Amino acid sequence: SSAEPEIRKGLAGVVVDRTAISKVNPDTNSLLYRGYPVQELAARCSFEEVAYLLWHGELPTPEQLAELERAERSQRALDPNVKAVIDSLPTTAHPMDVVRTALSVIGANDPTTEDSSRGSNLAKSVRLLAQIPAVVAYDQRRRRGEDLVPPRDDLDYSANFLHMTFGEVPAPVVVDAFRVSMVLYAEHSFNASTFTARVITSTLSDLYSAVVGAVGALKGPLHGGANEAVMHVFDEIGDASKAESWLDQALAEKRKIMGFGHRVYKHGDSRVPTMKAALDTLVAEYGRKDLADLYDRLEAAMTDRKNIQPNLDYPSGPAYHLMGFDTLTFTPLFVASRITGWTAHIMEQLESNALIRPLSLYDGPDERHL
Ligand code: SDX
Repeated sequence: SSAEPEIRKGLAGVVVDRTAISKVNPDTNSLLYRGYPVQELAARCSFEEVAYLLWHGELPTPEQLAELERAERSQRALDPNVKAVIDSLPTTAHPMDVVRTALSVIGANDPTTEDSSRGSNLAKSVRLLAQIPAVVAYDQRRRRGEDLVPPRDDLDYSANFLHMTFGEVPAPVVVDAFRVSMVLYAEHSFNASTFTARVITSTLSDLYSAVVGAVGALKGPLHGGANEAVMHVFDEIGDASKAESWLDQALAEKRKIMGFGHRVYKHGDSRVPTMKAALDTLVAEYGRKDLADLYDRLEAAMTDRKNIQPNLDYPSGPAYHLMGFDTLTFTPLFVASRITGWTAHIMEQLESNALIRPLSLYDGPDERHL
């Protein structure tokens, strides 16, 4: 038979298209959003500025930023149709299922869903940027038996998100750590959920369908669900002194240790130092040296046993825990940030579209007849 074609399982190492949105460079361990190092953006920009950069390719002028802030702040209130559907779900529903459902409802209620022009898709992107915090905040409060907190248009994106979740604006160090996490989670080239969004977009389906598919992909613990899973690991281990024994047992069971490893980065994730610095400010704010000790000992043990470094989910999990979020809310926070990268890629895919349809090598029964 002719030589078998090489199968690239998991599309590992396969370059499937160009993108101008971000560059992940494992050799220099760097990440650029439209050319800017993510560390610089995390140090100096609001999440709104980064959203604009991802969508438009340039940082906004003061006028452009004011226009984006006005549009985002005017759409923050939880849509009554969406609230009604969320209220129809059991409080035991996984928050990622609630977010996925809410996005479907927003799309089904949007009369412009079938308009895939850039202008219409930009408007949808801003609407989702504004609406997802309302969904995530309400879902956590509903699970806690607390009432909806309406948005405040005098607060920026990060402060308002925290206010809608906790009913108050926390200390500036908390708001800033949250802002840093949103900037760092926003975009990461062709990761599984972004590629999912591009596959759906490549059939010329609508933006909401692409985002709902991306949420489904992100939920998995090998991808976005890892930040939630990291906290479950910390809860399992308990005291820092048990980190090594826990790890040896887990590795003996061939478990993947959540928050470690990466398909592209092989010498550590470029975003980790920035998110770890933000975590350190929260550890100091709340006096949680016990959590810092556990973090350090598990990381050291993982380096010692497997020489595998943390990814962004490792510091972000405990950081979200210290901010007061339920563990089940962590991956929805990833959605709130990555909606910017997903929608940027959806619009880029449409600019030079080709249907994404790879091949497969058949190894079922030879042809046979009834
Ligand atoms: C994100 O793609 C992106 O950019 C994603 C993301 C983004 O911003 O969009 O960066 C966000 O999803 C980060 C990753 C979060 N996932 C986790 O933390 C889950 C735990 N990580 C692993 O499942 C794993 O590291 C992956 C899935 C992230 C990457 O795995 P690969 O590239 O498929 O590599 P692999 O699983 O084949 O691992 C290679 C070897 C294996 O050993 P062998 O079987 O060959 O002996 O390393 C081992 C693996 O067993 N290994 C791990 C491990 N990660 C790799 N062993 C234990 N624990 C781990 N975490």
